[in-house]
Amino acid sequence: MKIQYSFWCLFVSLLMMFPTMILAQEPLGVPDLEEIEYPDDEPPSADLVHLGKVLFFDPRLSLKDNQSCATCHNPDLGFGEGVKAAFGTMGAAVGRNTPHIYNLAWNVTFFWDGRASTLEEQALGPIEAEGEMNMPLSKLTGKLEEVTYYQRAFARLFPDEGITAENIAIAIAAFERTIIVDDTPFDRYIQGDFSAMSPAAIRGMELFEGKARCILCHDGPNFTNNGFHNIGIGDDDPGRATIQEGASNQGAFKTPGLRNTLLTAPYMHDGSIGSLEDVVKHYNKGGNQVEGLDPLMKPLNLTDEEIYDLVAFLGALTQPLRVERPQIP
Ligand code: HEC
Ligand code: HEC
Repeated sequence: MKIQYSFWCLFVSLLMMFPTMILAQEPLGVPDLEEIEYPDDEPPSADLVHLGKVLFFDPRLSLKDNQSCATCHNPDLGFGEGVKAAFGTMGAAVGRNTPHIYNLAWNVTFFWDGRASTLEEQALGPIEAEGEMNMPLSKLTGKLEEVTYYQRAFARLFPDEGITAENIAIAIAAFERTIIVDDTPFDRYIQGDFSAMSPAAIRGMELFEGKARCILCHDGPNFTNNGFHNIGIGDDDPGRATIQEGASNQGAFKTPGLRNTLLTAPYMHDGSIGSLEDVVKHYNKGGNQVEGLDPLMKPLNLTDEEIYDLVAFLGALTQPLRVERPQIP
């Protein structure tokens, strides 16, 4: 009898824990450099990072020599472009907003629809894509062979293979993993410097984790669950559904990390929301009532002051990075 009773107690308490278990969020925090999974299990050499940086800024990577990765991922514009949608080297619109590339070292899915799973895999996409840099990889390796700096750098870093598409990707990804934001007012605040955030930002942080429910999707040190959600933007882009079937994937996009989000306007996969205030207002109404809207999206009943506080908190996630442009060889 006694055994049965404790069995039921255990069963009932497990049942009560279940909803919290499936909604378990990672706490917000400072990103842990130790947790970065490097392809070689250790941080890349400074030499490799520099090569990746030069490649990132080199317009030779595009067919018409007029576009580098940094044209669209401009470090002065939050590694985006400041416009709704990108234009490729041939002048045609890419159709989606350029995402920022902050703290992607911890990321596990890439592109708005998550169609790449490593930075190395991602990097070759835009080079070859006709709508973007339109540069066949076989042609690119030939083009780089003609440049003494690249000849020497690849020979030094990759003595066996030299300049190959894979090695170009390895170098670019190594540079991208160094784009790290981990010293914002928010980081200083949670490490004990209580004057680092304004009272409005502190209230905003409490709303972010509480009434406004942002943490349901933007959790952990990088403010993303790496999941895909339809938050009711309501254009006709199928998003994740082109990669994976399922009703919940229709119009679903990757949850972007929010570090430096103040610098990365305009927002969303289609660049349709221009300011952080309008982003919060979008959530406040529970998104647009579209088919496939994520059940986590609910009207929030935030007051104007609470909207202001949330924007102040998002602003406290800012650490402008100074990226010195390398000399193009
Ligand atoms: C023509 C503008 C343009 C150029 C040039 C460009 N990108 Fe992008 N980039 C985009 C757009 C737009 C997306 C989102 C596309 C999508 O999700 O379908 C993107 C996505 C990415 C992502 C994924 C970010 C994330 O959060 O998932 C990374 C990383 C990236 N680009 C790196 C690069 C690198 C490296 C280069 C140069 C080899 C490059 N990009 C060149 C516009 C551009
Ligand atoms: C149901 C999951 C979910 C919730 C809850 C949620 N977000 Fe998002 N957030 C996303 C997804 C997914 C996107 C990208 C959507 C798209 O482009 O279609 C996004 C985009 C954003 C962006 C734009 C980032 C960029 O780089 O374009 C900001 C800012 C943002 N969310 C802030 C918030 C805030 C503040 C809250 C709370 C009021 C919140 N989010 C609640 C999933 C969520």
